[in-house]
Amino acid sequence: MRALILSGGKGTRLRPLTHTGAKQLVPVANKPILWYGIERIVAAGVTDIGIIISPETGEEVRSKTGNGDRFGARITYILQEQPLGLAHAVKTAQPFLGDEPFIMYLGDNLIENQLQGFLTTFQSEHLDALILLRPVPNPTAFGVAKLDEQGRVLELVEKPQHPPSNLALVGIYLFTPMIHRAIAQIQPSARGELEITDAIQQLIRLGHPVKACQLEGWWLDTGKKDDLLEANRLILDSDLTTNIQGEIDGQSQVIGRVQIGVGSKLVNCTVRGPVKIGENCYLENCFIGPYSSIADGVTLQEVDLEHSVILDRASIAGIHQRLVDSVIGQRARLTAAPRRPKASRFLIGDDCQIELS
Ligand code: G1P
Repeated sequence: MRALILSGGKGTRLRPLTHTGAKQLVPVANKPILWYGIERIVAAGVTDIGIIISPETGEEVRSKTGNGDRFGARITYILQEQPLGLAHAVKTAQPFLGDEPFIMYLGDNLIENQLQGFLTTFQSEHLDALILLRPVPNPTAFGVAKLDEQGRVLELVEKPQHPPSNLALVGIYLFTPMIHRAIAQIQPSARGELEITDAIQQLIRLGHPVKACQLEGWWLDTGKKDDLLEANRLILDSDLTTNIQGEIDGQSQVIGRVQIGVGSKLVNCTVRGPVKIGENCYLENCFIGPYSSIADGVTLQEVDLEHSVILDRASIAGIHQRLVDSVIGQRARLTAAPRRPKASRFLIGDDCQIELS
């Protein structure tokens, strides 16, 4: 068994953060989204992992993620020259995948469940494809499945205008090498891509065993700001344990589950968990409210913050109104002018400099 993680694409829905980086490297609770997928795959016992990368962001994904040692895996990077679809990515990875069955995992998907149970079903029922489904309010944005009364998959359609159900395809699939044969038989869709959804539909048409399992836990496709904040909230809620390695002065108060990394310093701050603060940060006269993740090297002075994600080396000073539901990009600088507006909500990209008046 091998795994194929897709980490290409342009990340248009997370711009401007993704102007300068891969969407799969945007952190959730200070860890790249992509790494959660790798960890899930390794936890299911699969350690031979191929990662599809694009010419634009591939080098960053490779240099940050490495050869797999840190995950107990062996990672092979596979360049997909052009974003010609998920099935095209599988085709590109065929030399790596060989004749083995594999897990395919879209690198911007985050799920609560472990994968082991699905793997066991896939193997014990001798399926050629196992797909995961989850009801969504906006099925037109996804691949959608139509099932019969017994839960058998009748039809799969990619981003349908008139969805046959509200069951979206989660970006995690299990395949035997039969999928390569199906991919060879499909044509690009209206958006010019070879769709994995069409390839699975082709397997069904040819009479191969395809099964759908409903995902019980949460699932987030982190391609958008609000999903990113929600993912951050869920991970901090479920995974965070208290661990204070930084320095906290006598005027500061830390309440609830909070992590503070090595080299970070808090002066006269109140931190109400769950909150994760990275390494080498400096915080002075701040209130940091629940569900905030602050990456390494961040400076915050006179800041009141809640339910927000602050990326590496950003700096915020003198904002005397609460920052909520915000994502602040790497190295962004946010400072206040003397007069203040009433409320603000931000999605601020890397390298931005903002001054409120
Ligand atoms: C892709 C798949 C779609 C699936 C979705 C899940 O869409 O094509 O079938 O429902 O991932 O995240 P994309 O996010 O590439 O638009």
